[in-house]
Amino acid sequence: MQKVKLVEVGLRDGLQNESRSLPTEVKVTIANLLIDAGVKELEVTSFVHPKWVPQLADAAELANSLPRRPDVCCRALVPNRKGLERALDTNIDEFAVFLSASETHNRKNINKGIRETYPVLEEVVREATAKGKRVRGYVSTVFGCPYEGEVPLSNTAEIVNRLLEMGVYEISLGDTIGVATPRQVKEKLKALTREVPADRLAGHFHDTRGTALVNAYVCLEQGITTLDSAFGGLGGCPYAPGAAGNVATEDLVYMLEGMGVETGIDLEALCEAGWLAEKQLGKKLPSKVLQSVAAK
Ligand code: HMG
Ligand code: MG
Repeated sequence: MQKVKLVEVGLRDGLQNESRSLPTEVKVTIANLLIDAGVKELEVTSFVHPKWVPQLADAAELANSLPRRPDVCCRALVPNRKGLERALDTNIDEFAVFLSASETHNRKNINKGIRETYPVLEEVVREATAKGKRVRGYVSTVFGCPYEGEVPLSNTAEIVNRLLEMGVYEISLGDTIGVATPRQVKEKLKALTREVPADRLAGHFHDTRGTALVNAYVCLEQGITTLDSAFGGLGGCPYAPGAAGNVATEDLVYMLEGMGVETGIDLEALCEAGWLAEKQLGKKLPSKVLQSVAAK
């Protein structure tokens, strides 16, 4: 493997879980620092209900303030038709739809059962595609649910197939609460990639128990070369108790570049985004590399 696609989700997954909301102009500055460091795909916000995720209530203003570059894709989560209408009114490049492999998390997160969610997402994907917008997908709680515990792989397989049928181009498999271990990741991905081509899948690992980096590595071993990560190791889901940050982009870039795998990201420049976020959020962020560079 020589190249990995990294999807930077810190501005969305990260900031949705912080008690302090950052001003839009600070988010724009962070987006610019990430892009300057070489990040090409950023998930920047969500057009969800602002009462459910107030930290991202500035979605439209942010989407319209981002730099427009042909080689950079800025994406937003869209849960339903209302979210799509709001997003289509902005300059955002691309959308992502999401649902969970476990019924209870799906209800807590988007107030619907899994089966009730399908037609909602079908409509979003159809309308977005008709407007020339690509749609990514997420399946949460693939490796465990905070409410139901173990989640059968058949749930994930069914959802992945439904999303592909809808026209979603890539599906990110979420370890929402960071419970996955390498053997479990290997077994689940081995089984799933018998049904679904690996190049349609991505890994999205939260680091609650310190296993995110090794799980990302196992994902690559299974031929899945798109990985989500968050600068500084920010992240979490407000509707999944116990969810800590995503695997830190700095730590992933350090590991991959050390293995001779190209990421296209300049690590020193990337750290600038994390340091600014630390200053603005008033706390240290969990990325190990960020802390080690700061300590020099
Ligand atoms: P609901 O209350 O069931 O919505 O919320 P509703 O359809 O019944 O509508 C109720 C009211 O909300 C209506 O207004 C709608 O217009 C309005 P009224 O007529 O009463 O004045 N409304 C909206 N307003 C703005 N934007 C919208 C919208 N939709 C309806 N999009 C809803 C359903 C999905 C909106 C809500 O549950 C929600 O916003 N949930 C978001 C939760 C969330 O953002 N979770 C975190 C992201 S997922 C994640 O982090 C996991 C991931 O990282 C992968 C992993 O780690 O596993 C992706
Ligand atoms: Mg997440």
